Amino acid sequence: MSDNNVQIFDTTLRDGEQVPGCKLNTSQKLVIAERLDQLGVNVIEAGFPVSSPGDFKSVEEISKLIKNATVCGLTRAVKNDIKVAAEALKHAKFPRIHTGIGTSESHIKFKFNSNQDTILQRAYDAVAYAKSFVEDVEFYAEDAGRTDNEFLARVCENAIKAGATVLNIPDTTGYCLPSEYGAKMNYLKENVKGIEKAILSCHCHNDLGLATANSIEGVINGARQIECTINGIGERAGNTALEEVVMILKQHPYLNLDTTIKTENLYGISQLVSDSMGIYTQPNKAIVGANAFAHSSGIHQDGVIKNRETYEIINPKDVGVTESAIVLTARSGRAALAYRAKNVGYELTKLQLDNVYANFLTFADQKKEINDTDIHQIIETSQVYR
Ligand code: KIV
Ligand code: ZN
Repeated sequence: MSDNNVQIFDTTLRDGEQVPGCKLNTSQKLVIAERLDQLGVNVIEAGFPVSSPGDFKSVEEISKLIKNATVCGLTRAVKNDIKVAAEALKHAKFPRIHTGIGTSESHIKFKFNSNQDTILQRAYDAVAYAKSFVEDVEFYAEDAGRTDNEFLARVCENAIKAGATVLNIPDTTGYCLPSEYGAKMNYLKENVKGIEKAILSCHCHNDLGLATANSIEGVINGARQIECTINGIGERAGNTALEEVVMILKQHPYLNLDTTIKTENLYGISQLVSDSMGIYTQPNKAIVGANAFAHSSGIHQDGVIKNRETYEIINPKDVGVTESAIVLTARSGRAALAYRAKNVGYELTKLQLDNVYANFLTFADQKKEINDTDIHQIIETSQVYR
């Protein structure tokens, strides 16, 4: 792995599946896992094996199936969780145990009724125990976003001493500002003893709509893994959207950070996840929303028809969308009408276009969107055309 490669850790099947009412069965998970492997993700977090027999089975079956990506199982810093995860992962070609504990003041006080020294010890013990089963152990410091940096650095040091090679710094509640999250990564890079033996990982939630920005700021400041989900699905406001971080890194080559994602598969897998989970993707969702490459106002349409790059920073084909859409509405201009008319077989002269356009506006004022059938009707009923 080169220094500028950002590992993509997909947690659609674990953190993503925590969306209420979106439970997947094992066969649905296997289909998604295989598509994630084809997409080129580096790690598939397949589930939380101790949580239920169904999740155990899914992790076990995914472990047998996946040939390229690392398959990961989540645990708490609890011996039995770790033992069960190791068992579920035993057929994986590249198994990883992802273990950890809450480190913020509120987690230590309210969730564990504990103290910092005990948390430091539990972090060490969990990683050391996981390491007795697999070589690849990732440690998470839950609620790291609200954890004091000095204490967080000590927890990370303990995890590294016990053998962790990936340190996950979750902004569990989606609270951090990008500058704050970036500074946290930078602080850990500068202050954790032994950090050269591990990579830092971003795991950002979207409660304030900052998950993508925070993850990007994290990798700019030295992290080399991003944890994310397809379509950004996940509990509450969701996780970092995989398609967004991948395309940001691709479209900003001067950052000198790349991924192994085959971006032309993004739209297909987005549809698969949305259909399997029954979660509708908002039309204005970046990269994969229905309107991400649709142009409906006259000024924009004219620009895009002359040269796509006037209003598009991504070639739709790069993410698996066949072509940009020129949507006809009452806000559309003559250029868009001529373009769509040509697509359905009419080469209009200037005079014909003027006449058809007047008819089109009357029609379009009564409809949200004009489809191909409407175009035929509008043209055939226009005086000058006949
Ligand atoms: O958001 C979070 O803190 C998590 C951890 C369990 C990794 O999902
Ligand atoms: Zn999470």
